[in-house]
Amino acid sequence: MLPLVTDPRTRARWAEEYSARARAYWTEERTKQLVGDKLPIMRPADAAVLLRALGLLRDDASLPPDRARKYFQINHMVALLLPALRELRARHPRVRLLDAGCGRSYLTLLIAWCARHVWNWELEVIGVDRNPDLIAEARRRAEIAGLDEAVRLEVGTVEAVDARDVHGVVALHACDTATCDALALGVSLGAELLAVAPCCQAELARGWSALAERGTSGPFSTIWGTPHLRRETAADVTDAMRTALLRAAGYDVLAMEFVPSEHTRKNTLIRAIRRGAPSDAARTEYEALRVATGGVGIRLAERLRGQLHDAEVYERSSGRREHEQ
Ligand SMILES: C[S@@+](CC[C@H](N)C(=O)[O-])C[C@H]1O[C@@H](n2cnc3c(N)ncnc32)[C@H](O)[C@@H]1O
Repeated sequence: MLPLVTDPRTRARWAEEYSARARAYWTEERTKQLVGDKLPIMRPADAAVLLRALGLLRDDASLPPDRARKYFQINHMVALLLPALRELRARHPRVRLLDAGCGRSYLTLLIAWCARHVWNWELEVIGVDRNPDLIAEARRRAEIAGLDEAVRLEVGTVEAVDARDVHGVVALHACDTATCDALALGVSLGAELLAVAPCCQAELARGWSALAERGTSGPFSTIWGTPHLRRETAADVTDAMRTALLRAAGYDVLAMEFVPSEHTRKNTLIRAIRRGAPSDAARTEYEALRVATGGVGIRLAERLRGQLHDAEVYERSSGRREHEQ
């Protein structure tokens, strides 16, 4: 582990020396071998100090193959978010994002780094994770990368985050139902951008497994009763349900592959941009999908139930007010 040097002048000297070492190591040829013809948001030579702080580059500035996966994941995620982040930036002089289940804060720190060193934006990222050891490590990394003033790293659960004026909520592989909690949080905060790469939500698969154990029959019973098919199908249906529920909450939603499957099998990115009014048709679509696949719902539906109801009441009452004027 890279030690944290507390003296700012010694740290600045280290950063300069390390950047020079990385520029010498990351020749055009080596960079091309790594990234091919793609133009990554962050080439190793340009963000060496950050990549070293994140534990992705070694002391000699090389990138071990097992770390390259994370390098590509966070680069791809930021590249896909950039158009939406630009929209936020056009509306807000200081953009505020929340990274839910930030872990060691790869994504939090990359976004903060790009804002400062590449885009020249005023941007603050709040990283929240329930694991205090990971937050301690993330804070150490932020200091090494010189980003401790651009990020706020807090121990807490996604369900109970207390934040305001957040323009975007992101979550990269937040475990199990934490992705649904991150989306529900974003909707409740009125966030304009939601972007999640879901992890291993097992809720639907568990419910389907219980149906199989009870001997329930239906068009999906082969899937309910076959662990591999159940897991794979449940992941996709969960994402389809999330898409419908976010549309129901007034978001334009796109689910896409964000990184080739050789880097990770958890390679779906759901990106939602708040555009309009809640949609009853999308809520009906969610219900139809839930019923058609066995009647098991997902946590996001539960978390949004009150919120969507409130939104509907609000829409109706404001419509009535307009009508009465
Ligand atoms: C697979 S890790 C991903 C971490 C990080 N986003 C990344 O991509 O490296 C999932 C993280 O979610 C955190 N987590 C899971 N459920 C959570 C919850 N309900 N509230 C806060 N953090 C949670 C875990 O502690 C863990 O650090």
